Amino acid sequence: MFLCMRTIGIIGSTGAIGKCLASYFKNENYIEAGRSLETSGNHIYLDLSDFRSVCDFINRISLENIALLFLNSGTFEVKKYTIDGYEYNFMVNAFSPYYIAKKILSLKPNCRIVLTSSISILHAKQDLDPKHWKRIYRNTKLIEYLLFKELEKEFPNAICYAHPGIVPSKLSFGLHSKVIRGWIKHFGNTIESGTECLIQASTLSSCNSSWVSPSGFLSLRGKPKLKKLKLKKVLKEEIKQNILKIEKELEEKYGI
Ligand SMILES: NC(=O)c1ccc[n+]([C@@H]2O[C@H](COP(=O)([O-])OP(=O)(O)OC[C@H]3O[C@@H](n4cnc5c(N)ncnc54)[C@H](OP(=O)(O)O)[C@@H]3O)[C@@H](O)[C@H]2O)c1
Repeated sequence: MFLCMRTIGIIGSTGAIGKCLASYFKNENYIEAGRSLETSGNHIYLDLSDFRSVCDFINRISLENIALLFLNSGTFEVKKYTIDGYEYNFMVNAFSPYYIAKKILSLKPNCRIVLTSSISILHAKQDLDPKHWKRIYRNTKLIEYLLFKELEKEFPNAICYAHPGIVPSKLSFGLHSKVIRGWIKHFGNTIESGTECLIQASTLSSCNSSWVSPSGFLSLRGKPKLKKLKLKKVLKEEIKQNILKIEKELEEKYGI
């Protein structure tokens, strides 16, 4: 009997955590996607700020027997907009990962999705006002998480969540002051332990209202542990409607 090998997809494989994740799966059939990769072999060019690139990625990955998809990208940009005129952080951190997961799950309902979330969502608001740009990373990560919780209603047990702790990376250094950067370098979680949180999340049969995050103080560092995520928020109706509107606008514009 012909058995089709499972494919593992990693979005955000070029960053600190993503590189470690890709090396963990190096002996498996895996595909990496990111802006700094050219489409060839197991690499797919993907710019999450560009809807056409997002659709090309979905078309390409849906040809695979995709069993596990890591959504591990993240950005923090100040006062930047996408080519379609939407707020950049919102598109990269929330809308595009959600759109990809939604489309992939509708094509491959047995695919397991692992979302790299962040502890910063606990102190975030569903506020996308670019005037509050200092909080735009955590606010867009919160909206991302809440969008995935909505998706879970349609695809129960398909999505697992992880928080890697505070790990030295381009992203975490860009978000914090010099003093905090020094702290992260010396006392932050190791990239390996942070990555282990994602790997453990991928093996769970369901996450319910939990995520895999470091066991230590404030979940900043330590060994991976399944913890209850005490977040009572639900996606605001106004944001839900706005996302549906953006989806429709983009699909019409790009003929999807
Ligand atoms: N580091 C931490 O302390 C920490 C804490 C909590 C959660 N996280 C989460 O962990 C994940 C990985 O972050 P990291 O710390 O490893 O950061 P990182 O080293 O800066 O990596 C970020 C990744 O996101 C990708 N990315 C950024 N903009 C993109 C775009 N427009 N299109 C496609 N890919 C894009 C980058 O790829 P290219 O730039 O090559 O395109 C890179 O692979 C993120 O989801 C982040 O929110 C990190």
